[in-house]
Amino acid sequence: MRISIFGLGYVGCVGAACLAKLGHTVIGVDVNENKVRLINDGKPTIIEDGIAELCAEASAAGRMSATTDVHEAVHKTDVSFIVVGTPSSKEGHLNLNYIYAVAKQIGEALKDKELKNEAKKTLRHIVAIRSTVLPGTNEKVGEIIAEASGLVRGKDFTIVCNPEFLREGTSVQDYFNPPLTLVGTDMPEAEVVFREIYKGIDAEFICTDIRVAEMMKYVNNTYHALKIVFGNEVGNICKELNIDSHKVMEIFCKDKQLNISPYYFKPGFAYGGSCLPKDMKALKTLAHDHYVDVPVIEAIGESNELQKKRAVQLIMAQGKRKVGILGLSFKAGTDDLRCSPIVDVVESLLGKGFEIRIYDKNVKVSELTGTNKDFIMAKIPHLQHFVSDDLEVVCRESDVLVVTNKEKEFADLLARYPNKIVVDLVRQWKEVDYNGHYEGISWGDVNANSVGQNSVIAKDFCQTEF
Ligand SMILES: NC(=O)c1ccc[n+]([C@@H]2O[C@H](COP(=O)([O-])OP(=O)(O)OC[C@H]3O[C@@H](n4cnc5c(N)ncnc54)[C@H](O)[C@@H]3O)[C@@H](O)[C@H]2O)c1
Repeated sequence: MRISIFGLGYVGCVGAACLAKLGHTVIGVDVNENKVRLINDGKPTIIEDGIAELCAEASAAGRMSATTDVHEAVHKTDVSFIVVGTPSSKEGHLNLNYIYAVAKQIGEALKDKELKNEAKKTLRHIVAIRSTVLPGTNEKVGEIIAEASGLVRGKDFTIVCNPEFLREGTSVQDYFNPPLTLVGTDMPEAEVVFREIYKGIDAEFICTDIRVAEMMKYVNNTYHALKIVFGNEVGNICKELNIDSHKVMEIFCKDKQLNISPYYFKPGFAYGGSCLPKDMKALKTLAHDHYVDVPVIEAIGESNELQKKRAVQLIMAQGKRKVGILGLSFKAGTDDLRCSPIVDVVESLLGKGFEIRIYDKNVKVSELTGTNKDFIMAKIPHLQHFVSDDLEVVCRESDVLVVTNKEKEFADLLARYPNKIVVDLVRQWKEVDYNGHYEGISWGDVNANSVGQNSVIAKDFCQTEF
């Protein structure tokens, strides 16, 4: 494959040398003449384990060169990677000026490149954004290239998102052993080309929506940062208690079922129950008692409260007063109401004058005992007035149905009550028709494609109180 790489910094240099190693012919492009000279001399522009050998080898084999001439690079290649820097602005926004400048240059160079040739139909130029960019950048880059070239995206050229997951220090090793290869595209032939580009790399190849791919790097890096500060906060508490923090985290990581696993990673409703809220508070208070600041651990509870407020706001935003709550306990298959997050939502809605009906096949008000009874009576003293053991009655008498757990008996609700508004807090349904009758708490209609479509929630969010 013939590939041009725009930006010969850290990621660009490693990418150029590694793609050449995979057998491709690479032309690097940079505004910095010194970097161009280094590459043409068979030398890397950065210091990194193994990169000098790769550059020398690629250069000697005639598979890697560099230029400042955008036109030449675009015309001699089929795929252009954009790997220029995306620094933070003073205010913390992402500065995409370098990306947009390169997009314009590529567009101008594409203008007179022969793209209409029938034989080249499957090889129309592909521009791959490898830099870390926010969702929506791909679309904007497409517009810039279309405007600068007069060509049509999807017909004459294609843009894909192909984020980079390497770490400085082990970047060559990471390039050849990535956790996965991710390509976001709306064009099937781009997937074929990228499978070819990375066919020498033994990693799962995932082809997905462009905006999903754009989001991934931010989710990854934010999670990595969260892991670091979480481990540090646990360590700081352990130190005060003379507990071996490394042993603690080592054992923590051995639990691949609940800790290092996909479990608990599904966007949805707040956590609750008799353990998580209590134990979170206990650890936080233990830290306070030892004068250890744990802002991340503290923020977990705050974030959880916000998710309950979000649910209230989402229900209120439907503009109806009769609300049916389907599931009151903290999860399916139990009658445990202690710290059940939906109880706080119900308490808040009752306070705002909503007409509430509740169905939960496991909750029999007359049979509640002990701390379970004490908790619910303190929150909703007249619970028996709102609860019905007839699902059909609750659904019929409500305009909005709030699904709070994945009980099987709720599975056909959308079909049975097509005119009711369903607010789904648990992703009971994956494939739904977003026809104005369905709202997911943390997911929406991906085809609507308008950022902030739920702004009705965001706008009133701060005003919601329990
Ligand atoms: N450094 C990392 O570990 C890492 C890992 C993964 C992803 N990323 C992302 O990759 C992107 C690049 O990061 P980096 O660390 O390689 O940046 P860098 O600053 O080291 O390199 C950017 C290069 O782009 C060049 N450049 C700027 N404008 C140009 C133009 N118009 N034409 C051609 N070249 C131009 C610069 O001269 C520079 O050499 C960023 O979005 C970054 O967030 C970085």
